[in-house]
Amino acid sequence: MPKITHVVGARPNFMKVAPVIEALTHAAESTDINLQQTLVHTGQHYTPEMSNLFFDELGLPEPDTNLDVGSGPHGQQTGRIMERFEQLILHDPPDAVLVVGDVNSTIACALVAKKLGVKVFHVEAGLRSRDLTMPEEINRMLTDAISDLLFTTEAEAEVNLVAEGVDPSRIHFVGNVMIDSLLKHKSAALNRPTLEQLGLHHDEEYILTTIHRPSNVDDPTVLTEIIHALVEAAQTRRVVLPLHPRTAANLEKFGLSHMLEGERVIDLEPLGYLDFMNCMANAWAVVTDSGGIQEETTILGVPCLTVRENTERPVTISHGTNRLVKPDRLSIESALASTARPTNGACGPELWDGKAGQRIAKIVLNELA
Ligand code: UD1
Repeated sequence: MPKITHVVGARPNFMKVAPVIEALTHAAESTDINLQQTLVHTGQHYTPEMSNLFFDELGLPEPDTNLDVGSGPHGQQTGRIMERFEQLILHDPPDAVLVVGDVNSTIACALVAKKLGVKVFHVEAGLRSRDLTMPEEINRMLTDAISDLLFTTEAEAEVNLVAEGVDPSRIHFVGNVMIDSLLKHKSAALNRPTLEQLGLHHDEEYILTTIHRPSNVDDPTVLTEIIHALVEAAQTRRVVLPLHPRTAANLEKFGLSHMLEGERVIDLEPLGYLDFMNCMANAWAVVTDSGGIQEETTILGVPCLTVRENTERPVTISHGTNRLVKPDRLSIESALASTARPTNGACGPELWDGKAGQRIAKIVLNELA
């Protein structure tokens, strides 16, 4: 009986793993393969609005194990995950460990598995920002270097991997599992009363913003510039600002919270998956530094301004929905002033069709057979 362990840890992992588990369940049933799947949550994210809510909304099974590592500096968090995951794998080794994305849980579990002789499958392989000051870039490169199967979301990813010496036979261009989840849940999301609950008027043009990267929120000067730009933009269109815990804590720490007072900036706790999708689909524009939101806005056809110097997701730029904007007040303001509805949002990048999970399932079962 083949056994596979899926790993999730942080918020952007949940919507990537859900379609893979579902597709593997169906594919195994229809081919009479007795596949055993287990789900491990590292506990990197742990508060209800950063974790549990997503399990409910995505219909993810309860994790078989929660490693409860919690927050901490990179070395400590990664080390804790490795120590606890190693015990688990030693106790009951699977045939493969499947990791997604680029968070600390991704590299920590990949490293443990590989050293114990367990195969590693990486979903969302090959994305590169070429910015080694980003912790995620280090996680991506190292995970890809030791993965046995590398599932990519866009053509450029394969070029990156081959240039780093990855054997092309291990690389599979399958599409984007995050978009599988988006397409599956879109109509349920749009049926929710999210906008009314936020006090937005019918047909109101608003800007949805999420900012949480350390490079944008850990430096008081940069964070002040971004908040200034948002407050300025909110004079024309209200700004909806769900606050990541890191951002909320830093606004408080740097004495910037008062800038968000008043009714033009709607600041709130992190939203769940469905409410956030509804908010994103109806936004006039999105201002973000997230990776996944660049992709989701591409499919939703919503203009996205990415407040970063670079992106590991170039297809979102060539597709026409996403633009990079420097993290300063003037750059953000002038980018918003020249923002227009994209014209080609309706048809997505190649293979972003809701079937990436199915393609992965077929290849995984073949590998484990
Ligand atoms: C992590 C990922 C990042 C991803 C982001 C999505 C890494 C290196 N970074 O960054 O790639 O884009 O998740 O959110 O893996 N906190 C809570 N509740 C939680 C989790 C965290 O309040 O459930 C607070 C803690 O104070 C913590 C801070 O948020 O110190 C940051 O969390 P952490 O997991 O360290 O990094 P993220 O910034 O969330």
